[in-house]
Amino acid sequence: MPERKKMTLPMLFKKAQDGLPLTWLTCYDYPTAYLQDQAGVDMILVGDSLGMTMLGYDSTLPVTMDDMIRHTAAVRRGAPHAWVIGDMPYMSYQPSVETAIRNAGRFMAETGCDCVKLEGGAEMADRVAGIARAGIPVIGHLGLTPQSVSALGGFRLQGKSALQAKKILDDAKALEQAGAFCILLELVPDRLCQLITQRAKDCLIMSLGSGPHAHGQLLIYHDAFGLYPRFKPRMAKVFADAGAVIRAGLEDYVREVTEHTFPQPENWFGMPDEAYAELLQLLE
Ligand code: KIV
Repeated sequence: MPERKKMTLPMLFKKAQDGLPLTWLTCYDYPTAYLQDQAGVDMILVGDSLGMTMLGYDSTLPVTMDDMIRHTAAVRRGAPHAWVIGDMPYMSYQPSVETAIRNAGRFMAETGCDCVKLEGGAEMADRVAGIARAGIPVIGHLGLTPQSVSALGGFRLQGKSALQAKKILDDAKALEQAGAFCILLELVPDRLCQLITQRAKDCLIMSLGSGPHAHGQLLIYHDAFGLYPRFKPRMAKVFADAGAVIRAGLEDYVREVTEHTFPQPENWFGMPDEAYAELLQLLE
C-alpha cells in the first residue's frame, strides 16, 4: 500500500465533493489505531463510548476528561494519518462556553487530535461557536445522543414524527451556522438524514445507523468486529468476528498450557552448559 498522506479538512471536503463516502470508526487504543490507519480509515473517533466498550460501565456518563486524554493520545500515536476526533465527555462542555473551550483546548494540546465532537443541538450552539472561534474544528452530534439517554427515553430511534424530525433539522442548521464543520446523525430515519445532507451548505453530514444518504458512515468498532459482549445493535454489521477468533485462541492457550504442549523449545531461551555448571557451583 502506498504511504498515506495526513488527512486534512480540505481533503475530507474534497472526498465528499467527489461523491466518495467518508469512512469513520471509533477506536480507543494504540494497536487498533495502527490497524485502522493502515487500512485507510478516513476518520477515527475516540468516543466516550469507551466507558462502555473498554471500561465496562453501563453508560458513557462516568467517563472523565483524563480518561479521554489518555486514550486519544494513544490513538494519535497509532494513527498518524487519519483525522482523529476527541469526543468531549459528559459535563466537559455543558456547564459553560468557557468550560467547553478550555476542555477542547486540552484535547488539542495534550493529545494532538485534529478536532473535537460534542452532543446537542441549538442549546449547544454557543459552545460550538466558542470552540470554532478558538480555532478548533468541531463536530456536532444529533439524534440519539448517549449522554442524554435518560432524557431521550433509552437507546431508540429519534426524529420519527414530523415534529421531532423538524426539531432535528433546525438543530442541524443551528450547529452549521455556529461553525460546526461536520454533524453526526445517530439513529434517525434515512429520509431525515437525506434531507439534512441535501440542505447542508458547508458541513459534512455523517450517518450512524441513519441510512446511506450522508457524506459518510460511522460505526462503533466493537460492534463491527464482534468485540462487545453485551449486545449488538441492529444498525451495526459485523465485518469480522474478531471476538470469536480471540476467544478460540484463548481456549487453545488454556488447553495447551494445561496439556504441557506450550511452551515449546522455540518459545524459550536455554543457558550454555558452562554457565549452568558455574551457577550450580556458586549455589553449593
Ligand atoms: O462515544 C461515541 O462513540 C459516540 C458514538 C456513539 C457516535 O459518540
